[in-house]
Amino acid sequence: MRWPALAVLISLLAACDASEPTGPMAGAGAERDGVSQREQVLGSFLEAHWKRPVSVQGPAAEGWSPLEASLNPKDCGSCHPQQLADWQTSLHADAFSPGFSGQLIEGGLAQPHALRGCQKCHTPLEEQQPFGPGPDHTAQPSAYDVELREAGLICAGCHVRAHRHFGPPRRAELPPLPETLPHAGFETRPEFQESRFCAPCHQFFDRSGVNVQNTYFEWKESPHAARGETCQSCHMPDRRHLWRGIHDRDMVAAGVDVAWAEGDANALVLTAHGVGHAFPTYVTPRIVMAIWQEDAAGRLIEGTRLEHTIGRKVNFRKGEDVFDTRVPAGGTARLEYSRPTDPGAVAWVGQVTVDPDFHYRGVFEHYLPTLSDPKARALIAEALERSQRSSYTLTELRRPL
Ligand code: HEC
Ligand code: HEC
Ligand code: HEC
Ligand code: HEC
Ligand code: HEC
Repeated sequence: MRWPALAVLISLLAACDASEPTGPMAGAGAERDGVSQREQVLGSFLEAHWKRPVSVQGPAAEGWSPLEASLNPKDCGSCHPQQLADWQTSLHADAFSPGFSGQLIEGGLAQPHALRGCQKCHTPLEEQQPFGPGPDHTAQPSAYDVELREAGLICAGCHVRAHRHFGPPRRAELPPLPETLPHAGFETRPEFQESRFCAPCHQFFDRSGVNVQNTYFEWKESPHAARGETCQSCHMPDRRHLWRGIHDRDMVAAGVDVAWAEGDANALVLTAHGVGHAFPTYVTPRIVMAIWQEDAAGRLIEGTRLEHTIGRKVNFRKGEDVFDTRVPAGGTARLEYSRPTDPGAVAWVGQVTVDPDFHYRGVFEHYLPTLSDPKARALIAEALERSQRSSYTLTELRRPL
């Protein structure tokens, strides 16, 4: 019972073979006409920018204060308080979560090579790697900083390379900048405002070649992309560093409408009008649409509940979908209700619930008893507990009979 569950965990979460130096988008089938699809998508700046783990920054220029040279997000935040305050509430700041870090303590994923493979998206800087590069990984890089590792996907992971700071073009409405700036100023790059900036971590294949997170390409084919809406316009409105997603009820409610169908058909219709990719984009969440009949005391009448699951289940061994009922960007899902009306019924209830961590909960449940390291057990137990708390009701509608 235990090993198959773990195998699924590894094949899904390994996302790409850790021995694959060119990254997740170079998964099976990504080569076309001898030119890698990844490079075509990313272009040369991002291809270099997102080579991970990101090389050690090295010594800062002469005359820099320790504050300017620091990679610690709290230090960035002493001059960029708004970004720090936002980022701290985001899942990027939680990328070294119990569910992630708990898996890197014992077993296959604790091996240096595999561990670096996992960390390249969650904690991408070389300064965050406990094992060094090179074939034997024995040396711990002298720049390694455990506090940075635990801080997750930090500011410098996206903005700083060899102590050079990169950012989007400066806001046009701002006054001109003084000649000398902290951290020797910054270089602006249009790629920060483009969806492909996010692709190296949010578009990946697993070992069998399944595009387990196909977010970039789903977006590219969406009506939103055609209208010029990017990942940033929805997930970083006004450049805010919030990155709300499926774990946030308000974010989902803003992108998804749920209503009874027009006319007298007893059907519940969900429209993903404001989702710029499939709803949901990843293979891990589950959404359940349900209709049932309610009695005068507000109780569900047994035998009247009908439901439809929205999600995607992959058979990793075969490398194919078991089912994929996700709603395409801008599309709809419909649950038709055909059961006879119960004599005691006073209303129909239509409900949509969201379970963001459906897949992980199962993984953690099976994984926990296989662990012997007390720290790993405590972390995975915490992750399991978190995954049990993350579900919520998106909508509940009543229609009197
Ligand atoms: C290609 C980038 C990438 C790699 C490599 C990667 N992850 Fe992730 N991981 C992600 C992204 C992106 C999410 C969030 C997806 C979402 O919510 O849609 C995520 C989410 C998770 C989560 C759920 C959230 C949490 O922190 O509890 C876990 C657990 C996790 N990854 C573990 C791993 C492990 C273990 C490995 C190595 C076997 C790994 N990941 C490798 C990109 C990656
Ligand atoms: C001592 C203060 C200070 C520290 C510390 C600092 N910055 Fe800056 N940073 C500035 C100033 C000032 C500017 C220019 C402000 C402006 O654009 O109005 C700037 C500009 C930037 C920009 C460009 C913004 C744009 O418009 O594109 C980015 C990105 C950036 N900083 C990231 C960081 C990161 C990441 C860190 C930490 C690793 C950091 N900064 C640490 C003061 C600082
Ligand atoms: C996941 C990658 C990522 C992380 C992590 C990240 N940023 Fe950014 N940051 C971006 C992107 C992308 C933009 C441009 C967004 C846009 O233009 O829509 C940006 C914009 C900025 C800007 C310009 C803001 C403006 O209003 O003009 C600053 C300053 C900045 N980031 C600093 C930081 C600091 C400080 C942190 C950490 C507390 C941080 N960033 C973390 C990706 C990131
Ligand atoms: C270096 C890799 C990396 C980059 C670049 C990156 N992300 Fe992420 N992102 C992650 C990881 C890892 C997680 C999951 C963190 C966790 O929960 O453990 C995540 C989580 C998220 C979530 C939360 C998902 C949820 O389940 O609710 C959103 C939304 C998101 N990212 C959007 C973006 C956008 C938009 C960009 C581009 C501006 C971006 N990310 C760039 C690695 C990355
Ligand atoms: C038109 C707005 C819009 C655009 C464009 C958009 N998203 Fe989303 N995204 C949403 C909404 C709304 C949700 C919450 C519903 C959901 O989970 O699908 C979401 C959820 C997510 C999640 C949570 C995980 C999941 O399974 O759904 C991730 C990760 C994510 N987006 C990343 C991205 C990335 C990366 C891009 C660009 C390639 C992008 N998004 C483009 C609106 C958008």
